[in-house]
Amino acid sequence: MIFAQENGRQMPKEDKIFAISGRAKAMIAKKGKDAVINATIGSLLDDNGDLVVLSSVLEALKTLEPVDYAEYAPIGGTPAFKEAVKSAAFGKNFKTSRYTEVCATPGGTGAIRNTISNYSKPGDKVLTSDWFWAPYKTITQEIGRDLTTYQLFDAKGDFNLDGFTEKVNALVKAQGSLVILLNTPAHNPTGYSLSDADWDGVVTCLNSASATGKITLFVDAAYIDFAGDEEKYRSFLPKLENLEENVLPIVGYSASKTLTLYGMRCGAMICMAKSKEIASEFKQVTEYSSRGTWSNSVRAGQAVLAKIYNSPELMEKVGIERAENRNMLIRRGKAFEKALRKEGLKNVPFDAGFFTCIASDNPDAVSAELEKEGIFVVPLGKGIRISVASISEEKCIKAAKAIAKVMK
Ligand SMILES: Cc1ncc(COP(=O)(O)O)c(C=O)c1O
Repeated sequence: MIFAQENGRQMPKEDKIFAISGRAKAMIAKKGKDAVINATIGSLLDDNGDLVVLSSVLEALKTLEPVDYAEYAPIGGTPAFKEAVKSAAFGKNFKTSRYTEVCATPGGTGAIRNTISNYSKPGDKVLTSDWFWAPYKTITQEIGRDLTTYQLFDAKGDFNLDGFTEKVNALVKAQGSLVILLNTPAHNPTGYSLSDADWDGVVTCLNSASATGKITLFVDAAYIDFAGDEEKYRSFLPKLENLEENVLPIVGYSASKTLTLYGMRCGAMICMAKSKEIASEFKQVTEYSSRGTWSNSVRAGQAVLAKIYNSPELMEKVGIERAENRNMLIRRGKAFEKALRKEGLKNVPFDAGFFTCIASDNPDAVSAELEKEGIFVVPLGKGIRISVASISEEKCIKAAKAIAKVMK
C-alpha cells in the first residue's frame, strides 16, 4: 500500500477473471469469434456470445413509471417487493410456518455481506467449502473476518458430511457462534447440488452443534432457477423448518441470474426464524447495516420483480423463457462432461449450473497452456473453472477435448 490502509486484506493488483477475460477479448478482436473459447464469463450467453436477457422481464421493465426508479426505496425494500421476493425464492409449493422478514440488498452479494456483518463478530471465521466463490473471501476480509473451509467432497465424490460436521463443531465451540455459507443448488464453481440426503445430514449436524452456540446458515441460492425443475430443486426448503431455534436459516436470493437482471443489483435476504423476536431483530440489524453501507437498494429491480410475481401472465412467460434457457445450459454442461469423460478425464462432481471444474495441482500452468490454444478458463486454488454458461454446446465439446489434451 502507498497511501491506503491494508487492514489485513490480501489484495491482488488486478482482478484475475477480468484480466483473463480481457486477453480473450483481445484475441477475439485479432483472430475472430470462432477462434476463441471464452469460458470465463459468469453470465448466461447465447450461442453467438450475446447476453441472454429474458424478454418477458424486459417487458415488465418497460412498463415502469418514473417513481418506480427515481424515488428512493425504503431501506428494507418496498412492501410489494418484500412479499414478491418470498414467492420468487420459495417457489409455488413451499409455505413456511416460520417468522420471515425480508431485507432487500444490492444483488445476492449484498445479502452475503449483510449476513456476515450481523451474525459474526470481528475476527471470527466464517465457514464455507474448499471450492468457493472468491468474493466470499473478499467480503469476509473487507469486514475484518476470515474465511475457513471444509473439504466439499469425500474420497467417493459425495458431500463430505464428516468433514463439514468436524469443522462446524470445532468452530462453534471455539467462537460461540458461527456463520456458514452454503451455496446450493448448482454451486459456483463446481455445479454441485446438495441432495435431500445431504440436507438431512446438514440439519442433524447443525441441530446437534447448536447446543453449544448460535449458528447462522446462509443458503446462497443465487442459481436456484438454473439447476433443473424449479420446484424439485426447492425440496430442501421444508427441511429448514426442522432446524432448532439456535440455528437461523437465511435464504440469499439474487435476481441477477434468475431474472437475468445482473446490472440491476436486485437481491434479498430472507430469514426463517423460529421466534418472532429473532425475526424482528433480523429486520432491525439488517436495515441498520444497509443504511451504513449502500443505504437503500435499487428501486427499479424491486419494482420489476414485484410486477412479475403479481401477474400470473408475466410469471408464466418468465417460467417458459427461463426453462428454455435453463435447458440450453443443462445441455451444455452435460455435453462438456460427456466429452471430457470420453477423453478419460473427470470433472469434479457436477449436477448443473453455470460452471464446472476440473481438479489440478497446477491450475495456472493449465490455464496458460490453454490460452495458447485460444481457450480461456479461470484457474482457481484447486483446479480450473469452465463457464458452460458462456459458450455454445459445440464449444463445450471442443473445450473438453482440448483441456483433456493439455492436462494429460
Ligand atoms: C455463488 C454466488 N453467490 C452470489 C452471487 C450473487 O451475485 P449478485 O450480487 O450479482 O446477485 C453470485 C454471482 O455470481 C454467485 O456466484
